[in-house]
Amino acid sequence: MQTFLHGRDLIGDLDFSKEEVETVLDVAFDLKRKRALNELTPYLRDKVLAMLFFFSSTRTRGSFEAGMAHLGGHAAFIESKTTQIAHGDTPKEIGEIYGRYFDGISIRHCDWGIGNKYLNDVAKYSRVPILNMQCDIYHPFQCLADLMTIMEKKGRDLRRKKMVVSWAYAASYQKPMSVPQSLILQMPRFGMDVVLARPPEFKLMPEIMGMAEEQAKKFGTKFEVVEDMDEAFKDADIIYAKSWGAMVHTPDPEEGAKIIKKYESWITDERKMALAKTDAIYMHPLPADRNIEVTDGVIDGPQSVVYDEAENRMHVQSAVMALTMG
Ligand code: CP
Repeated sequence: MQTFLHGRDLIGDLDFSKEEVETVLDVAFDLKRKRALNELTPYLRDKVLAMLFFFSSTRTRGSFEAGMAHLGGHAAFIESKTTQIAHGDTPKEIGEIYGRYFDGISIRHCDWGIGNKYLNDVAKYSRVPILNMQCDIYHPFQCLADLMTIMEKKGRDLRRKKMVVSWAYAASYQKPMSVPQSLILQMPRFGMDVVLARPPEFKLMPEIMGMAEEQAKKFGTKFEVVEDMDEAFKDADIIYAKSWGAMVHTPDPEEGAKIIKKYESWITDERKMALAKTDAIYMHPLPADRNIEVTDGVIDGPQSVVYDEAENRMHVQSAVMALTMG
């Protein structure tokens, strides 16, 4: 068990070693148990987290804010559009100045080709931990919550469990590719055989694919790419199907929307779920495009664990904040 995470950033999924992720999960399970028993957990009394948002959120904002309150501290909600960032405040200034006011800085910046660089630029100048609330490349806290949820449903030994990470059709907007990228990096470290299913235009970043292949090799798991949702779903233990944009293929949102339209059949429905194991779980980080990405019957059905995933965001984030900001 690695217990000294004080002062560390969490920007990419591999920033923490597997042992450090195990520590985070142990603490998260303990915090969840304590909350169920109404036990107090004031590990961050009088500490303050800055939550800087360049993009909207329901779960991330709520869970970080609630988590900081449960830890005895406070979270300050700051939207980029109400700051002076548009008028010239640089990442250096945010890192230097907010690093002096706050005990941690969490940032959501999903703009393609910009978000991850922004977080790393702030981190260079910040004296306190930088926590990634989602960027264009990674969504590490979503992935930790997903891992915690899978362990709750399937046990902590996940070797040889088949996890499908699938693209799904959506009409609302071109969603970042950060969730599938985080999943293919983290899950092989915990023994899962990952099958990535996506149409040809929805490739993930080549460098992330390379890193995922390395992780799978290192941890002795399978990592396969297919272009057929049905084929992927066969005998799966875990189905994680969500939409993402064609950003690698084209950064143009209009062109991307035209490409997406070709793949309306990529919906998770009852027929496809029946191809997976009978005890397979259905996962989605939310928000979902209902009856477009996934049918109501599946997302509200007995195999869906989406609300546990959303709850576990709070527990894993509180664990990381307690370990890094304490
Ligand atoms: N899953 C997730 O990050 O949700 P929000 O966009 O609502 O924060």
